[in-house]
Amino acid sequence: MLAGKHVLLGITGSIAAYKAAYIVRMLVKEGAEVKVLMTVAAKQFITPLTMATLSRNPILTEFFDPENGQWNSHVSLGMWADVFLIAPASANTLAKMASGVADNLLLTTYLSARCPVMAAPAMDLDMYAHPATQEALRILSSRGVEIVEAASGELASGLDGKGRMEDPETIVDRVRVLLGRRESLRGRRALVTSGPTREAIDPVRFISNHSSGKMASAIAVELARRGADVTVVSGPAPVRPSCAGVSVVDVTSAGEMYSAALEEYGRGCDITVLCAAVADFTPAAPSGSKIKKNGESMMLELVPTRDIAAAIGERRRPGEVVVGFALETDNAHDNAQDKLRRKNMDMIVLNSMRDPGAGFGVDTNRVTLFFRDGGSEELPLESKTAVASDIVDRIEKLLEGC
Ligand code: PMT
Repeated sequence: MLAGKHVLLGITGSIAAYKAAYIVRMLVKEGAEVKVLMTVAAKQFITPLTMATLSRNPILTEFFDPENGQWNSHVSLGMWADVFLIAPASANTLAKMASGVADNLLLTTYLSARCPVMAAPAMDLDMYAHPATQEALRILSSRGVEIVEAASGELASGLDGKGRMEDPETIVDRVRVLLGRRESLRGRRALVTSGPTREAIDPVRFISNHSSGKMASAIAVELARRGADVTVVSGPAPVRPSCAGVSVVDVTSAGEMYSAALEEYGRGCDITVLCAAVADFTPAAPSGSKIKKNGESMMLELVPTRDIAAAIGERRRPGEVVVGFALETDNAHDNAQDKLRRKNMDMIVLNSMRDPGAGFGVDTNRVTLFFRDGGSEELPLESKTAVASDIVDRIEKLLEGC
């Protein structure tokens, strides 16, 4: 699996840098060619001599060699690599990657890399839990960086908690999986709907919901990682996918989402994932000017919106996979199965608002999958990234059966 693959390993300043030596050994043993990039801080934790000996390549740290002026091109490094693994990834480097800072060779290489990028964070538990670090991880994940979540255990500080870099075996395993599945959806086109919609009441007010776009973004990124050409039709969601292979069409209302999604679907989609929380009702006659209060109650007439999932269910062609979501509070299983049938889907992903850690806004989800053939599967509470990966695994199986 790894024989002949080009792995670029970035090492940042962390006590976990010693584990990078094991990673290189394993990669080289499996036949990969490894080049190592180290930040200045990384060299204080492990010597370039060790890493150069293990990788059988000179270590790259600076933009150019001060002795002979030889240029280390970050662009060609990014083009050379089949995968750019950053392990350990410090809080500092992750924050810089998320905000586009380019003040060392590792960061410029990241910004210009065309290959998949994977980062294995390592830091103290409070740094890991800090909202700034978590936000950086979320941003990077939405941009397609595969994050190997830190493990829990004893830390260099003597404290116990989440922040340890994962074991080298686990990281190399993830590299194997990443490289293996990259091509699995090559040539497939996918449509994903995402986020909430906004239904105008007047020019300053609207009806909407709490969808953040996290679940749909994770699915879009996962589809793109496996080689699919993905279009996301997104309502005004705070989280949007932005990685190679994903293009985003922005819409606001349910009506606009219907038109954009149907237009994209009409271009031919092998995979359709309807993850958006589309408004079921919209004001019948939005006011052209701001509605003024006059001390009296007011009635707002709502009319149903058009159902995107149902429209795609009617038009779907053989060989395609259509997946919907169901967000329920009551009679969840019955309602989800009813939607699966009515909207002519292959699979529906049920998440319940009654379930802690599931549904809107949170980084995790607990879902039950229902299939057209009557089967179902309950998944544990996982990060939305892991749920997305599980869903895309099932989509691949459904495509095989088409
Ligand atoms: O965005 P996050 O904060 O990460 O939250 C994720 C999520 C909770 C929004 C997501 O996991 C989810 O459940 N999305 C579907 C929410 C929803 O509107 O469910 P529903 O049961 O009302 O709709 C059933 C299906 O019909 C869905 O696939 C929906 O996209 C689709 N639908 C509904 C109405 C409509 N007019 N058009 C549609 O396509």
